[in-house]
Amino acid sequence: MATLLLPLSILSLVMAGIVAGHNVTISLLDSAVARGAVCLDGTPPAYAYSPGFGDGVDKWHVIFEGGGWCRDVADCLNRSKTPLGSSAKLMSKEQNGVVSFGGMLDANSTLNPDFYNWHVFRIFYCDGSSFMSDVEDVDPKYNLTYRGARIYDAMMDELLRIGMGNAKNALLSGGSAGGLATTLHCDKFQSLFHNTTRVKCVSDSGFFVHGEHFLGADWRESFFYRVVSTHGLTNMLPTSCTSKFSPTLCLFPENLVPDIQTPLFLIESAFDSYQIGYTLFPDRSPKWKSCLQNLMLCNWTEIEIMKDFRLILVNTLKSTIANSSSRRGYFVHSCYRHGHMEDISGSTCSLIVGNGLANKCIFQNIAEAVGDWYFDRSEFQEMDMVNNLPRNCTGENQPILEKKCIDYYIHH
Ligand SMILES: *[C@@H]1O[C@H](CO)[C@@H](O)[C@H](O)[C@H]1NC(C)=O
Ligand SMILES: *[C@@H]1O[C@H](CO)[C@@H](O)[C@H](O)[C@H]1NC(C)=O
Ligand SMILES: *[C@@H]1O[C@H](CO)[C@@H](O)[C@H](O)[C@H]1NC(C)=O
Ligand SMILES: *[C@@H]1O[C@H](CO)[C@@H](O)[C@H](O)[C@H]1NC(C)=O
Ligand SMILES: *[C@@H]1O[C@H](CO)[C@@H](O)[C@H](O)[C@H]1NC(C)=O
Ligand SMILES: *[C@@H]1O[C@H](CO)[C@@H](O)[C@H](O)[C@H]1NC(C)=O
Ligand SMILES: *[C@@H]1O[C@H](CO)[C@@H](O)[C@H](O)[C@H]1NC(C)=O
Ligand SMILES: *[C@@H]1O[C@H](CO)[C@@H](O)[C@H](O)[C@H]1NC(C)=O
Repeated sequence: MATLLLPLSILSLVMAGIVAGHNVTISLLDSAVARGAVCLDGTPPAYAYSPGFGDGVDKWHVIFEGGGWCRDVADCLNRSKTPLGSSAKLMSKEQNGVVSFGGMLDANSTLNPDFYNWHVFRIFYCDGSSFMSDVEDVDPKYNLTYRGARIYDAMMDELLRIGMGNAKNALLSGGSAGGLATTLHCDKFQSLFHNTTRVKCVSDSGFFVHGEHFLGADWRESFFYRVVSTHGLTNMLPTSCTSKFSPTLCLFPENLVPDIQTPLFLIESAFDSYQIGYTLFPDRSPKWKSCLQNLMLCNWTEIEIMKDFRLILVNTLKSTIANSSSRRGYFVHSCYRHGHMEDISGSTCSLIVGNGLANKCIFQNIAEAVGDWYFDRSEFQEMDMVNNLPRNCTGENQPILEKKCIDYYIHH
């Protein structure tokens, strides 16, 4: 019965036009090549741009794509043959050279009331360093180019060329490695604007914890150590951090976030599926596979580790916020998930099942929270402190919940 319900519900939603989003053409920034701002394989970087309209003409949302990091030459060489390291591969992979803008990128005002008519500029990720590398020499043996920071600069110049400098509102965001990129570039982004522009940043699932004494700490550290050395990041990281910590530790957001001057919002699952899946055991120990794919199959050892991970994440986030120079917004829920902003199930409904937030409307959702915080309607700081077990929020109930969320939007 349950297996029958799922496809039917999804089908009816597709037919109702709810699983929408609009297609945007992917473009190459050819002018970046002359300044050496290229992907790992030497191809030009790519972006997708959807112009703002109506009263969104002076509002700009810039998004970094995510997709992990490459940590050594062999890893980066592999990546250079995929869309995450080569725009040639990106163009051949994406159907018809288009990408779908959904969730908080959606142009439908019902589904995305706060951001639907903004300029949306999505920067594709092809450097493997969260847009931080700038190595002059091309790797002689494998012909790899490490130039993420130059890609960032070239994209910003392009954005200013097409009018972003006149923005009244600007938002920089990104998910996963793009969330870390957001944290790393947030203040630099802010400095592009007049001091009258409202500039804020949202890091979505970008809070990768160090967890010094927790399972996998050595692995997490050695991973970032290798990212730093492979991409030559030692002198590229914010000096506000490297004056206090080693470059390796300056890829962990807990050591970066306190010094960021620009308003920053953090979206996290306390049971971040990427961190639980990929950062607790070297190269994701295969023995965990069945549990990570289906939470019902986790045994108590695994559940206890997840509960401990949640405490590390929640406590690290809290002390990071407490140590921060300015107030932060955040939304921390307990659905087993990674990435929220670019599709409606993430941006709308991640918190809805068994909502543990006291005194909050059960339909409080991420897109609304970010909108409230962005436009100063509230200082959104909410963390699910009730559910201490990972919840599967993408099961058969999901389409029904999405419909409820959308009905809620329509009637409020
Ligand atoms: C926007 O989404 C709503 C809800 O799914 C749908 O009814 C409406 O037709 C959509 N509008 C446009 C212009 O696509
Ligand atoms: C290295 O990459 C450049 C730029 O894509 C290309 O022109 C050149 O042929 C490549 N060289 C080798 C040895 O693969
Ligand atoms: C590179 O890709 C090959 C083939 O997919 C794989 O066997 C190898 O393990 C990968 N190497 C790294 C370092 O990821
Ligand atoms: C978007 O592009 C995909 C792939 O080309 C296509 O299947 C889909 O129908 C398009 N969607 C819309 C709304 O045009
Ligand atoms: C904004 O900048 C102008 C000059 O560029 C300065 O006079 C003004 O005090 C600044 N305002 C704030 C709020 O920093
Ligand atoms: C739980 O599963 C893991 C493998 O993922 C195994 O090593 C462990 O012994 C199991 N624990 C219990 C209590 O069954
Ligand atoms: C969540 O539930 C769906 C079906 O209800 C299942 O397909 C999926 O594997 C589950 N995910 C996890 C991580 O348990
Ligand atoms: C916050 O500051 C305290 C006191 O300086 C320090 O012990 C703690 O490690 C800091 N927390 C984080 C997450 O940086």
